[in-house]
Amino acid sequence: MKKFFNKWTRVFHRWIALPTLIIIPLAVIAKFTGDGAEHLPPQLEQFQSILMLLLAISGAYLYLIPYLAKWARNKRKQTSQADVTRK
Ligand code: HEM
Repeated sequence: MKKFFNKWTRVFHRWIALPTLIIIPLAVIAKFTGDGAEHLPPQLEQFQSILMLLLAISGAYLYLIPYLAKWARNKRKQTSQADVTRK
């Protein structure tokens, strides 16, 4: 179950990255071309914020995976050692 969740979080992160990668250059171009508008349409800016939030959440989880795995491994080791000393 955890493996499944980890895999799909990675896939989710990868797919959310795609529209974000398109919107970021557009936002930068809109900001630096002085035609008066200076910003993307508000709906697109909101969409970008949501994408960034989703990336930050899924990215934070991807970042934590190795540490969570290490923690679970150590916990498992401790429990099995406790079993050996009890026997
Ligand atoms: C707060 C923001 C973000 C955090 C904390 C974050 C974190 C991470 C982490 C930890 C990984 C896994 C690295 C690994 O173990 O190999 C990852 C993969 C990736 N990130 Fe992010 N990321 C963030 C934002 C972004 C953004 C803005 C993009 C692109 C628009 C992006 C695109 C990707 C892609 C394409 C991968 C590879 C996914 C795969 O393995 O298929 N990330 N990110």
